[in-house]
Amino acid sequence: MAQYHVDKMAENVYILRVDDAETRYFEALWEIPEGITYNAYLVLGDEKRVLIDGWKKNYAPQLLETISSIIEPKTLDYIVVNHMEPDHTGTLPTLVEAAPNAQIVAHPLAAKMADSFYGIKGNIKPVRDGQELDIGGKKLSFHYTPWLHWPETMMTLLTPENTLFSCDAFGGYSIPPTIYDDNPQVVEKYLPFATKYLFTVIGGYIQHITKNLEKLAGRGVNPATVAPAHGLVFRRNPSTIIEHYRKLAAGHVQKGKVTIIYDSMYGFIEQQVAEATVQLQAKGINPTVHRIVDTEHPHLSDIVGDAGDSEALIIGASTYESGVFPHMDYVTDIITKKVKHPKKILVLSSYGWGGVAGKKIAKKLETAGHKIVDIIEIKGQLTQEDREKIRDAVSRLLN
Ligand SMILES: Cc1cc2nc3c(=O)[nH]c(=O)nc-3n(C[C@H](O)[C@H](O)[C@H](O)COP(=O)(O)O)c2cc1C
Ligand SMILES: [Fe+2]
Ligand SMILES: [Fe+2]
Repeated sequence: MAQYHVDKMAENVYILRVDDAETRYFEALWEIPEGITYNAYLVLGDEKRVLIDGWKKNYAPQLLETISSIIEPKTLDYIVVNHMEPDHTGTLPTLVEAAPNAQIVAHPLAAKMADSFYGIKGNIKPVRDGQELDIGGKKLSFHYTPWLHWPETMMTLLTPENTLFSCDAFGGYSIPPTIYDDNPQVVEKYLPFATKYLFTVIGGYIQHITKNLEKLAGRGVNPATVAPAHGLVFRRNPSTIIEHYRKLAAGHVQKGKVTIIYDSMYGFIEQQVAEATVQLQAKGINPTVHRIVDTEHPHLSDIVGDAGDSEALIIGASTYESGVFPHMDYVTDIITKKVKHPKKILVLSSYGWGGVAGKKIAKKLETAGHKIVDIIEIKGQLTQEDREKIRDAVSRLLN
């Protein structure tokens, strides 16, 4: 069951949060047993009333109800759309109907998308990059942040509160037990979900995080509160989430983190991975392991999240019908799309009569800019010589 939260963040500023524990695959792709929240915000100026972003369409009646607990929805003057993805705009048609006088404030590209997605044509106020909107006693300014996560995306800064409504950027998966970052333990538990979110959702455009952070800093945007559209609101330490994003975007990794991703139909790759693991453990490294075997399949979202902040990867793939085991082929494609900083990668592979999987996987990864430390292709079970090859390759992985 979804949960709904309203909290007063400051005088006349409210967060409206829905906890979505029903979506199993975010964007129909990423497994999120931890759930996700959609955060909308209500800002009441002395003259104008503004809703910032919305929720996924499943919760449209509840969004209206939630707004109604504070103001009459029909008295809204503006609906700011920072980003057109339907996890934030699915409720837009309902809102437009309930608040016919409200103008939609958005990037010009978003204005066009409002028509193509929802047939919403009139009452749209496209804003320029940097444009301000006086709402009486408070001001909003709009800052284009292209590719965080779509080309039309912008952030909205509220003054004098100095709150940045950042939409997808600085967001994360999961349903935090609190609205704010007040409790360090909550934050510690949350940050890995922010990492997973960053790589799965924005990973392909990661360099735009750096670009947009520089742009915002250049404009003197230094928020006291970071209020994203997913996950925790950071008001105690806004720099925690900004730095987290900045570092990952710059390619920072968890020192010594090695992620192993492999398939094994009958256990031969498993032998190779066991050998590699012994060697890693001898170096004091406990790898993070995702195995595709007959008793379990890992979540693609966890693979991408873990690969993103790993120092090195080990990828093991069986040869399957003169090609790569299908899931590993897919996993490799996704890694090339979502993990843009070059990783050191050891490719392990197994075959019965003619090995091709290792070379194919390595080629894909290398073409995408990753650094292949070695390709080891082994026929069936390991010989002593194979074991030595694996040990040697692993010892070169972290140098
Ligand atoms: C469905 C299937 C298709 C296979 N296709 C090939 C192949 O095209 N070429 C090859 O050399 N081995 C092929 N093999 C053999 C496996 O690649 C080989 O047994 C390998 O050691 C399996 O490692 P694993 O048990 O870790 O998956 C195939 C095996 C299966 C079950
Ligand atoms: Fe998005
Ligand atoms: Fe989103």
